[in-house]
Amino acid sequence: MPAYSVIVRSLAIPLVLTSLMANAADLERISPDTVQFRRPAAIARLDEATGVVANRCGTLSLVDLVKWTVVAEYKLGGRLTDVAVADGLVLVTDAERSRLNVIRVFREGAELLSELPVPTHPLTVQVAPDEKSCTVASKWARTLAVVKLGDEPAIVDTIDLGFGAGEQLYLPDESRMLVADAFTGRLAVVNTSTHDVEHVHDFGAHNIRGLALSNDGQTLLISHQILNDAALPRRSDIIWGVMIDNMLRTAKIDDILKGKPGAIYSGQTINVGYAGQGAGDPDSLFIDQAGRAVIALAGVNEVSIGAPFSRAFQRIGVGTRPIDLLPLSEGRFVVVNELSDSLTLIDMTENSADDLASRNKSKRDAAQDGEEPATDASSAKPAATSPSYDEEYKKRYAETAGKKYDDSATASTYGSSYQGTDIFTSHLTLGPTPDLGPAERGEQLFFSARLSHASWFSCHSCHVDGHTNGGRSDTFGDDTEGAPKRVLSLLGVGDTGPWGWNGKKSTLPKQIHQSAASTMRGKGLSDKSATDLAAFLKTLRPPPPYQPAATLADKALVKDGRRLFESLSCTDCHAGTTLTSPDVYDVGLVDERGLRKFNPPTLRGVGYRENLFHDKRVSSLEEVFTEFDHQLDRKLTGTELKSLLRYLRSL
Ligand code: HEC
Ligand code: HEC
Repeated sequence: MPAYSVIVRSLAIPLVLTSLMANAADLERISPDTVQFRRPAAIARLDEATGVVANRCGTLSLVDLVKWTVVAEYKLGGRLTDVAVADGLVLVTDAERSRLNVIRVFREGAELLSELPVPTHPLTVQVAPDEKSCTVASKWARTLAVVKLGDEPAIVDTIDLGFGAGEQLYLPDESRMLVADAFTGRLAVVNTSTHDVEHVHDFGAHNIRGLALSNDGQTLLISHQILNDAALPRRSDIIWGVMIDNMLRTAKIDDILKGKPGAIYSGQTINVGYAGQGAGDPDSLFIDQAGRAVIALAGVNEVSIGAPFSRAFQRIGVGTRPIDLLPLSEGRFVVVNELSDSLTLIDMTENSADDLASRNKSKRDAAQDGEEPATDASSAKPAATSPSYDEEYKKRYAETAGKKYDDSATASTYGSSYQGTDIFTSHLTLGPTPDLGPAERGEQLFFSARLSHASWFSCHSCHVDGHTNGGRSDTFGDDTEGAPKRVLSLLGVGDTGPWGWNGKKSTLPKQIHQSAASTMRGKGLSDKSATDLAAFLKTLRPPPPYQPAATLADKALVKDGRRLFESLSCTDCHAGTTLTSPDVYDVGLVDERGLRKFNPPTLRGVGYRENLFHDKRVSSLEEVFTEFDHQLDRKLTGTELKSLLRYLRSL
């Protein structure tokens, strides 16, 4: 256990035990021996010495950050996605029941003060700087809800973003905030007083998982990926990031706030990985006081640390799927490892931050001799540093990357040294877990970039959280080159066989073997692993209806649309509850290699798709019918089109 100097306060708990609300309910305390998959999603700091972790399984773990132990666990239920602290109260989002829970934690227990219904599938909660309100970003409702905190929390406004909302960031002057797309590459600027969406920047990226500001507040840093639809899944394209790039991007905050076109391109792009050592799935991000960027690399079970404008990142092995970071004090932070039910404490305080920064700088200067930091794909070259640096790097990588943790111990510590800096990592498991079953093993594989050549990307890189990054990719999925296809959502994929646009894969494991071999270009999968991945994919439920009918008139319109859908024989091919069928059909659309017969995509959740058909050739649902007369033997009247579209959007 590294010694560290966080001010020790016992669980600094507000000792006012009277509840804010008469009906506050005590939360059930869970025995530390309870065997379950907790799956920590996020961590927040309750006070100097206490962290609170929201677990996907529906519990909250309270962690003593000084003694580095779990002090209590409380049952809340649902599927928890994020946690924040405002005015000493814990705010937790539950995606299953679409709730924002407000909880008070005190020495003897925890009580639920309020359960506020919020728009469908809240993903993140961010507290406003004055701690009087918070914002909740919802993935499927595509909104940002503004919630007034206090005795009776309530939604004061719901801002329509038009895209599934994910990460959020308040800007220093508090008048604006940024909200990122949960799947593709949009970033909205929201006015925090008028609640207007002032600008939406779209920069052709996906998987925006980290937003942070430089210490001078002038530069925005974004961790994200880019999928290039012209790349081929050849090993040579993969290791230079031509196919999928893992990056840290900088942009001028002023330009972003003004909505300047191309604002996001105003800064630099820094490739987080190296040719032979990809950095699959960059996730959570923060900038420490020394100005170093700390990025969780979710797909390779590492954290990367480095000055954002250099290319010399240090990488430290952590637990499985690091997805959240909590800075404690300079040089110390906690990593949340979702799929190993654990936290990792990283301590780099042996050497002062200045010391490290200057050592990194002189190393860089010596190696690069005034060379400008690269700003394009060529920067995917290995860091241009001295041979001894590279050797050191490889050695260190080998030491930590494959390190297997002993999950049965509550905490295990190992130290290592890199470039003269002592880095201590200490592992804390949140509680005992059962043995992994097929679906849990499959989940680990799905989120692992180790399945791809040189660890550049995972299944999740394209099928974001099982859905889609909205891109197009030439995966050789149809055994041809030069005919990139739209990345399909895998939500509900268990019952929509056969698989692949050409409908050639009669079982899920066959499709998975194909994806592993020809898309990932890794070592391939054993049959057991393919079956495990299939078991995981079968747990993915279809998304909720895009726009459920709200009023009676709306319901009538949906019903008319449904009747029309049947009378136009759409159901011949989009049949039953899955709204697809097992055959392939020529519907008049030909791909670049002359393929004409496709398996009908399911129409469940079709409203969420911004681009349709196998190559994204149309950019709205209307155009499927107005421009392509898809399977219509006559023109539809305006009224008919309206009801058909309304029906499709209700799915
Ligand atoms: C580079 C992006 C990319 C990555 C990475 C990727 N896929 Fe895909 N996936 C696609 C595209 C594009 C398609 C459609 C290809 C086609 O059918 O021609 C697809 C199709 C599929 C399908 C068929 C879906 C259906 O409804 O027919 C499954 C299942 C699938 N992928 C699973 C996986 C798994 C498992 C992994 C990881 C081993 C993976 N994919 C990695 C892009 C990707
Ligand atoms: C003969 C079979 C068949 C019939 C009948 C049919 N479809 Fe399709 N549909 C397909 C196929 C195949 C595709 C995919 C074509 C492609 O992308 O190249 C498709 C694609 C679509 C799409 C785009 C989905 C996406 O994700 O890109 C929509 C929407 C759609 N159909 C709606 C309808 C409606 C509404 C009707 C009735 C008017 C209808 N279809 C009738 C086979 C059919």
